[in-house]
Amino acid sequence: MSVFLGIDIGTSGTKTIAIREDGTILASVTIEYPLSSPKPGWSEQNPEDWANATINSVKQIVQKGVFKASEVKGIGLSGQMHGSVFLDKDQKVIRPALLWNDQRTAAECAEIEERAGGRKKLIGMVANPALTGFTAPKILWLRNKEPKNYERMVSCLLPKDFVRLRLTGEFATEVSDASGTLLLDVQNRKWSAPLLKKLDLSASILPKVYESEEVSGVLTTAAAEQMGLPAGVPVVGGGGDQAASAVGNGIVRKGVLSATMGTSGVVFAHSDEVQIDPEGRVHTFCHAVRGKWHMMGVVLSAGGSLQWYRNQLGQCETAVAKSLGQDPYEVITAQAQQAPAGSEGLFFLPYLTGERTPHADPYARAAWIGLSLRHGRSHMARSVIEGATFAMRDCLEIIQGLKVPVKEVRLSGGGARSAFWRQLQADIYGVKTATINASEGPAFGVALLAAVGTGAYKNVVEACDATIQVTDSWQPDTKTRKIYDAAYPLYAQLYQSLKGDYSAIAKFVAAQG
Ligand code: XUL
Repeated sequence: MSVFLGIDIGTSGTKTIAIREDGTILASVTIEYPLSSPKPGWSEQNPEDWANATINSVKQIVQKGVFKASEVKGIGLSGQMHGSVFLDKDQKVIRPALLWNDQRTAAECAEIEERAGGRKKLIGMVANPALTGFTAPKILWLRNKEPKNYERMVSCLLPKDFVRLRLTGEFATEVSDASGTLLLDVQNRKWSAPLLKKLDLSASILPKVYESEEVSGVLTTAAAEQMGLPAGVPVVGGGGDQAASAVGNGIVRKGVLSATMGTSGVVFAHSDEVQIDPEGRVHTFCHAVRGKWHMMGVVLSAGGSLQWYRNQLGQCETAVAKSLGQDPYEVITAQAQQAPAGSEGLFFLPYLTGERTPHADPYARAAWIGLSLRHGRSHMARSVIEGATFAMRDCLEIIQGLKVPVKEVRLSGGGARSAFWRQLQADIYGVKTATINASEGPAFGVALLAAVGTGAYKNVVEACDATIQVTDSWQPDTKTRKIYDAAYPLYAQLYQSLKGDYSAIAKFVAAQG
């Protein structure tokens, strides 16, 4: 039987998995690397760390001896989206890459909108507004702030595509990740010549665009030798981590969505047509499924809010968990269940790191509103979980508002691990939630894309149907759903009430230096 490798170049580390054609996971290796923040709001990594972690993780997975190197028939690459790797004429990295969560490009976003002839025209060209995390503003930042480096730049690649260059020698990307650069004509799945012209950027700095399951190159002899694989193994386009994860969750048909709660939270919907939110609150990108698109809302601190609660206020719970041999989250979740749905009027706004969807506001901040003498730790814990889930409902509401049918929401990440949170998501979303048999996310998704691209399956839908099954599901509880339907508009109103205060607080903080 054939073996396919899925490699996900993430923000905390690179994960490589090996699967059989039927989806069985054979082995997994993760190698971590650091992230640096040289100034407030900056977020950078060294692209060579990604290349080394990829080579070493593949080498280690081969050395496990669970499969023969000669059985590897295809490789898929996934990665953190939007990052910018600037290369010189010798393919050398010019400076550390700016990452998806880097916030330094507010001025360049404004410049892009202006050059494009306004926000509406920009959305008309590339389906999305300019956001600080996207790639195009990063290129303009280099031009504006580091002109010497900009002069040396002959190409700009996304994280996984830089690794592809090292593995295959090819300058290539694929439609799903390219969508997050803000330079792709998302409707026509090719670089936007009109926007490139307006931004005075040459198309020559950008790689060739493939569909996600298309073979983009083969392993060079040098890379193959380093990893212990035969030369010539095909490397398919792969996908940005969100589209790849969606393939790994089987989100390849209308009506089935995913809600993934890691540090950030993502609501992801498949779409047969290009559907654009005229207000630009959710992203419209090409899907890793040929000729299909997706919409996605990103909540910056979903699971991250509960993590903050655990770290800053959960010392007691962490100590109790230690004495019981449990995970602190289990104790916090058990405590949260002691409070009633709606936390007796206590609301938590989860904007610890500003917000992307729906507010696109870097100055938004977290808050508890409604505290009274009646409230204790159980209410506080429950309201954090409810607040993060309301933020995910914000994304879902926009997607539903664009007439996308929502029949089932597949859960993954931290929010899928607790039975309490799985039911709570069904109650807050007002729709059936489900879990599936696969949990390797993006790496699994691109291993499937490699299987499709090398002929093991006819297409991505067939590959997902053959390997992914629903294992359990939860229906909304009528009584609890009613409570959340009444609480949600109050939650949504709170940001509107506080918006002006958030900017005032940001100014105050800036003035303090
Ligand atoms: C997607 C996004 C993140 C990164 C990092 O738009 O910004 O999911 O891809 O994982």
